[in-house]
Amino acid sequence: MTGKPALAVVGATGAVGTVMLQILSQRADVWGEIRLVATPRSAGRKLTVRGVEVEVVALSEEAFDGIDVAMFDVPDEVSARWAPVAAAKGVVVVDNSGAFRMDPEVPLVVPEVNPHCARNRPRGIIANPNCTTLSMIVALGALHAEFGLRELVVSSYQAVSGAGRAGVDTLRAQLSMVAGTELGTKPGDVRRAVGDLTGPFPEPVALNVVPWAGSLREDGWSSEEMKVRDESRKILGLPKLPVAVTCVRVPVVTTHSLTVHARFQGEVTVDKAREILDTAPGVVLFDNPAAGEFPTPADVVGTDPTWVGRVRRALDDPTALELFVCGDNLRKGAALNTAQIAELVAAELTGRSGVADSA
Ligand SMILES: NC(=O)c1ccc[n+]([C@@H]2O[C@H](COP(=O)([O-])OP(=O)(O)OC[C@H]3O[C@@H](n4cnc5c(N)ncnc54)[C@H](OP(=O)(O)O)[C@@H]3O)[C@@H](O)[C@H]2O)c1
Repeated sequence: MTGKPALAVVGATGAVGTVMLQILSQRADVWGEIRLVATPRSAGRKLTVRGVEVEVVALSEEAFDGIDVAMFDVPDEVSARWAPVAAAKGVVVVDNSGAFRMDPEVPLVVPEVNPHCARNRPRGIIANPNCTTLSMIVALGALHAEFGLRELVVSSYQAVSGAGRAGVDTLRAQLSMVAGTELGTKPGDVRRAVGDLTGPFPEPVALNVVPWAGSLREDGWSSEEMKVRDESRKILGLPKLPVAVTCVRVPVVTTHSLTVHARFQGEVTVDKAREILDTAPGVVLFDNPAAGEFPTPADVVGTDPTWVGRVRRALDDPTALELFVCGDNLRKGAALNTAQIAELVAAELTGRSGVADSA
């Protein structure tokens, strides 16, 4: 390849697609053409990327003509159908949906943790992990590289935007219903005030926490909990890692938080853990409780790194650490990681053609 690779953003009009266009406008520009793709409903709409208006085209086989890399920010079933179509035309697909994450022939990539896996893609597809896993895995990957992870116990405090636009609209509507009232003092009073307006959540999320995210899986586990376990194992290359997860929805618009109990192969020290986290790419250590300093979603939202605070050694286990982690679920948790993977592929394609050109 002589010029810059051409990129297609499929699902450019959606929640993740919108953040993607902002991110593509902010990062180093490694792309030639950027083509925007969505449903026929959106065809003809003009969206701005890199400061230029680009007309959206409808998804079709021809939409991939001349394209080198395609990001898919669309529902699972759309990726399941169309990613193989693009891949068959020689396009490298980076898929943000859940359609291919656990496919053994599809690498699941976090560029700070397992960038080498992006090169081995027998189906021409690379998958982007789910937002809850992504919100903690960069910090955990850095600690694992030094200490060797043996076990994870995680609780999430997930923002409503993880359930898409409908989640955000629901929280905002519920907040306006309870603002300025005495609700939250009697059993069921918030539920009665909110009525049917629970949106994608099983319970009111305003003035509440809801111990549920996703759909029901075997033995009472939620799909979100299974994703955190299965995807963490795959990304870290630890297929038998014991992982216990409880996913909880909280009244936060954007930015997932997690408490993490991580057990390692041998004794750990807080000083060494802090040194690792302080120097790990993509991680910010913000941990000074004496000064009231620890990450919270209200400060982390809109930023790129994984923020870590409350670093402690477990009181009863010298091989374990306790952490509090925050990450923006729409940036690193979705669009940013996809953009980073696509940039790895762009570098590879350009480098490869350089070798071919000189041969
Ligand atoms: N929200 C999150 O926090 C998050 C985090 C990580 C991953 N994800 C995943 O990212 C994907 C997109 O999520 P989202 O929240 O951005 O969804 P969304 O807001 O509903 O957007 C969906 C996008 O897909 C397009 N689309 C839908 N059906 C299509 C079809 N048949 N052909 C072509 N385009 C089609 C839509 O185009 P139109 O506008 O033309 O309808 C829109 O651009 C999902 O797989 C989701 O699970 C979401």
